[in-house]
Amino acid sequence: WASSLPQLDSVDRSDEESGGEMIDWDNLGFGLIPTDYMYVMRCSVEDGAFTRGELSRYGNIELSPSSGVLNYGQGLFEGMKAYRRVGRAGYTLFRPEENARRMQHGADRMCMPAPSVDQFVDAVKHTVLANARWVPPQGKGALYIRPLLIGSGPILGLAPAPEYTFLVYAAPVGNYFKEGLAPINLVVEDGVHRAMPGGTGGVKTITNYAPVIKAQMDAKSKGFTDVLYLDAIHKRYLEEVSSCNVFIVKGRVIATPATRGTILPGITRKSIIELATDRGYKVEERPVTVDDLIDADEVFCTGTAVVVAPVATVTVEGQRYSFRTGPDTVSQELYTTLTSIQMGLAEDSKGWTV
Ligand code: COI
Repeated sequence: WASSLPQLDSVDRSDEESGGEMIDWDNLGFGLIPTDYMYVMRCSVEDGAFTRGELSRYGNIELSPSSGVLNYGQGLFEGMKAYRRVGRAGYTLFRPEENARRMQHGADRMCMPAPSVDQFVDAVKHTVLANARWVPPQGKGALYIRPLLIGSGPILGLAPAPEYTFLVYAAPVGNYFKEGLAPINLVVEDGVHRAMPGGTGGVKTITNYAPVIKAQMDAKSKGFTDVLYLDAIHKRYLEEVSSCNVFIVKGRVIATPATRGTILPGITRKSIIELATDRGYKVEERPVTVDDLIDADEVFCTGTAVVVAPVATVTVEGQRYSFRTGPDTVSQELYTTLTSIQMGLAEDSKGWTV
């Protein structure tokens, strides 16, 4: 694979000095810090498949005003992280093929061609290596990688775009929530729904995200960290938080809403289910009610950006419920188990890291 790197030599890296070293690595949040390069690959409907992509300087892209993504939201995104390896040169990706496959599944739902798994992972590797100086020092954060797949060709009537762009960019990040690693406070929302049966809640389309910003902003203005959405039909089953999946813990039993088309099948979610099962917890993927939540010992969220975030309180219809947080919690145990693998501090017996 490394032999395909010569593309890097063809890009101008002369202004490389100004950048990574000016970052305050101790105070990274989740704001956008632009990096040097992005990877771009295009596909027209006539070609039928993505051909070879290339790295270019990170910057604005040109889009037709009538592109499918701008007019009809024909687009998907992914989120991934690269960590600096402990005690060895190089960088670690976590289950990148899973992101590639999730994008393929979403592309099918959104009538788009998708890159192959190899093309996807190769593009991500190129993007990380080209922006290597932006990977935070160990323990300070990660290089967040954002693959996009968009209908970039022009279309006026509602139909699939005639051309697609796959683009990967990256930015160094720290903790997602402003609370840092401290427990977060959620509010249950029963008026705004993130997804509905038959909709696109189960794929990572860009159109799932802007519609929840208003509920999120309202919650933040009232002092909550984020919103926990309920199902649109019964309004009593937990779905997910704006940017992450949710789990509840009762004794040695962990439950999370089953993914039946309205919930994003998170890669962190899937990994936590497996790690918790290995550690002797009974893990249930099932409908989880608001009453189950209220009765829980612990609540936590999972996601690539969020990692594993403990929840201190959830407010339901104006009533605030508190949950166990701190060093001896299940969420802390799972956070440590997962991040030790991701950062290369523990043996990766599952072969999840690349
Ligand atoms: C991620 O966790 O990577 C996501 O894509 C969520 C995003 C809203 C930050």
